Amino acid sequence: MAQSVRGVIARGKGLPVELTTIVVPDPGPGDAVVRIQACGVCHTDYHYREGGISDDYPFLLGHEAAGVVESVGEGVTDVAPGDFVVLNWRAVCGDCRACRRGRPQYCFDTHNASRKMTLEDGTELSPALGIGAFADKTLVAAGQCTKVDPAASPAAVGLLGCGVMAGLGAAVNTGNVGRGDTVAVIGCGGVGCAAVAGARLAGAAKIIAVDIDPAKLETAKGIGATHTVNSRESDPVEAIRELTGGFGADVVIEAVGRPETYEQAFYARDLAGTVVLVGVPTPEMKLELPLLDVFGRGGSLKSSWYGDCLPSRDFPMLTDLYLQGRLDLDAFVTETIALDGVEAAFHRMEKGEVLRSVVEL
Ligand SMILES: NC(=O)c1ccc[n+]([C@@H]2O[C@H](COP(=O)([O-])OP(=O)(O)OC[C@H]3O[C@@H](n4cnc5c(N)ncnc54)[C@H](O)[C@@H]3O)[C@@H](O)[C@H]2O)c1
Ligand SMILES: [Zn+2]
Ligand SMILES: [Zn+2]
Repeated sequence: MAQSVRGVIARGKGLPVELTTIVVPDPGPGDAVVRIQACGVCHTDYHYREGGISDDYPFLLGHEAAGVVESVGEGVTDVAPGDFVVLNWRAVCGDCRACRRGRPQYCFDTHNASRKMTLEDGTELSPALGIGAFADKTLVAAGQCTKVDPAASPAAVGLLGCGVMAGLGAAVNTGNVGRGDTVAVIGCGGVGCAAVAGARLAGAAKIIAVDIDPAKLETAKGIGATHTVNSRESDPVEAIRELTGGFGADVVIEAVGRPETYEQAFYARDLAGTVVLVGVPTPEMKLELPLLDVFGRGGSLKSSWYGDCLPSRDFPMLTDLYLQGRLDLDAFVTETIALDGVEAAFHRMEKGEVLRSVVEL
């Protein structure tokens, strides 16, 4: 039986989001209905609202979530009703050219629910990143549900579903940070701070946090940064070189998504070092660099989508580290809010007042 529940939707560019009634169908083959317990407010939800990702309004927002599986469709064996899960946007197909080469973290054909959630008048909803979790319940592909230890707080581990995984994985998976490395992170919002946490977990010797906001630098310090640089007050490239014996960092993670910060990352890394771009640029942005420097400095310039994560491998492991006190996910939860607080949370996010606002249900 289809169910009517509350959900937060975006109807058009520039319009405030609305809390309304949505209809969640029974799970089709391979699907699962999940009762949401917590969902973080991510920049990407705001990009959806603004039409920056596609024009397929109305969107059902929210995608950084944890909850409990309520029912599953035909053929689902990996999860069952009652399972505590973190939702992911990388339910790998197992069959595309990336999966077949043993690189499922690059899957080009990830799965979403086989049926559509709708408004009461039957209008089909587009769930953000195929999830749509600012809702009492949502319908996803069962592969989007990753079981984790139910002892964990939903508000904390739900963040593994997007921003924290993106930043932490940018350091650990994409950047391959290892013991003794020097790491710089440019932009210390939720994603950059997660990169700091990842670098710390990986055993980096020095972790230099760069931001223009002193409050963000304080937070980064609490999460594991060994040094901070306010790039409004001093040249970050010079500062990072000075802190690394004049050479630059082994790995520099760009978590802002702008050409000028990318250029800083490019020049703040040591010869043969790695730049990881995790910040998302906008379509009009362009980058100009002397090609001779790209060649002459060697190393690698990488981009990181979703921290090159494999949810089935990474979510349970990171949840365990959280429960053991080795990964402070609670530090990322600035505030918990109700389902009708998403619009106000967008404004606080735009002002840089929060690492993460998390809706609790
Ligand atoms: N690649 C992925 O898979 C993925 C996933 C989630 C988010 N993201 C992207 O990561 C980026 C960061 O996300 P977030 O949630 O941390 O955002 P945020 O707004 O919380 O953080 C951005 C930080 O950058 C700082 N900043 C802004 N301009 C700066 C500058 N010129 N120099 C230094 N610091 C500067 C801000 O003060 C802020 O602390 C966004 O572009 C987001 O879209 C990427
Ligand atoms: Zn695939
Ligand atoms: Zn997100």
